[in-house]
Amino acid sequence: MICLLLEQSTTTMSRTGISILLSANLWDADPELFSLIQKEKKRQEAGLELIASGNFTSLSVLQCLSSCLHNKYSEGLPGERYYGGNEVIDDIERLAQKRALEAFNLNPEEWGVNVQPYSGSPANIAVYTGIVEAHGRIMGLDLPDGGHLTHGFQTPTKKVSASSMFFESMPYKVDPETGLIDYDQLASSAKLFRPKLIIAGISCYSRPLDYERFREICDSVGAYLFADMAHTSGLVAAGIIPSPFEYSDVVTTTCHKSLRGPRSAVIYFKKGVRSTNAKGEAVLYDLEKRINNAVFPALQGGPHNNGIAGIATAFKQVKSVEFVQYQKQVVANAQHMAAKLIDRGYNITTGGTDNHLLLVNLQGTGLSGSKAEKILERVSISCNKNTVPGDKSALNPSGFRLGTPVLTTRGLVEADFDKVVDYIDKGIKLGLEVVKISGPKLVDYIRVLDSEQTIGKKIEALKNDVESFSKTFPIPGHPDY
Ligand SMILES: Cc1ncc(COP(=O)(O)O)c(C=O)c1O
Repeated sequence: MICLLLEQSTTTMSRTGISILLSANLWDADPELFSLIQKEKKRQEAGLELIASGNFTSLSVLQCLSSCLHNKYSEGLPGERYYGGNEVIDDIERLAQKRALEAFNLNPEEWGVNVQPYSGSPANIAVYTGIVEAHGRIMGLDLPDGGHLTHGFQTPTKKVSASSMFFESMPYKVDPETGLIDYDQLASSAKLFRPKLIIAGISCYSRPLDYERFREICDSVGAYLFADMAHTSGLVAAGIIPSPFEYSDVVTTTCHKSLRGPRSAVIYFKKGVRSTNAKGEAVLYDLEKRINNAVFPALQGGPHNNGIAGIATAFKQVKSVEFVQYQKQVVANAQHMAAKLIDRGYNITTGGTDNHLLLVNLQGTGLSGSKAEKILERVSISCNKNTVPGDKSALNPSGFRLGTPVLTTRGLVEADFDKVVDYIDKGIKLGLEVVKISGPKLVDYIRVLDSEQTIGKKIEALKNDVESFSKTFPIPGHPDY
């Protein structure tokens, strides 16, 4: 009898139990995880986040992300779903599409958009899948020169990214002296390699891209021009750096970097006349179907409708005066930070910046990019090590990348960046002090960071200063998590 009761209690659904499971707040249901989230929230508040690809999104985007839209399956496109019950989801996706076009003042007769990619990397692979097809040829800026993994990155011994495994990639480079893209070299390599698509896009490059020149090179070999504006799309939308749309056939962007939206991406594709053939007849673009089919069913399943709603509301914000002011401040802060670092004797690649990021070159200082990243992390400043033009090893880069979108979202202006530069400079000097004790090896450097008491005290003091400063600036989102 007891056995029978026990069996019933584990096999019969208890409505009260289920209701508690489903309706309890995270802090009650899973205090262990909740306290980790709170810990991360405190880290974000206390630290100076200078990762160029990051941002703090708005409360309204976070509300979309945790809404009921998360629950709905909707494979397919608006009006052509593989599941029922998608009338509202269709309206939301159409709204996101409309606003995504409006954000860049695009005419829907000339451009279409797919708002379903889960993030930037899948969006880029979808572009290659749709346009280039398996083992077709692509060319992108080499990763160590400021490109992105998904632009075909491989090393001499390893195909690192799927974009080099499933497509044949050849990189183009920056001039090691100037740090600027070597368009002449790209033009002559393209004539030999004859790519089907050339990528104009950056993850670490502080100067405008010459889209007109890219177009010319693409036309000389009959290639598509694909602009991946993930990093700079917020600045493009605000009209403060050149737009790729005039010259490109296809454009992708993530929505979570300078755009300050949800973690997702969109793909824009050109419609209408592509060229005129020898008989004078118009040759039309056929990208719409190819891109849409590549996203689904080739690569993805059900769209993340909460993310798509986040896109819709983020692109609404893009049209506001405040958004444009924000983007102008992002650039002003980056330029100010570059100038102040140069005043203190730092070498900034290309001598400054026209966008939201800058690359500090530490060659010849005794400190590597990894060591700089580590010491800054210890004092609550987040940035990332990065190769600089001419670096021999991508594993041991000589610089670090700084970006201003996150701190500008928190309200920092030029005068506040004087302080930020001061903290960075103090951190780097402390790193040099550590190298004097540890010698050049990174393991020894970390050992000294972990064990040397005098260094530990200096780290603690600087960290306290950084955190007291940082906490005076608000971050958007939920107050406690
Ligand atoms: C230029 C560029 N494209 C694509 C991506 C990939 O985006 P995600 O991290 O969303 O996959 C990044 C990410 O940093 C990027 O910088």
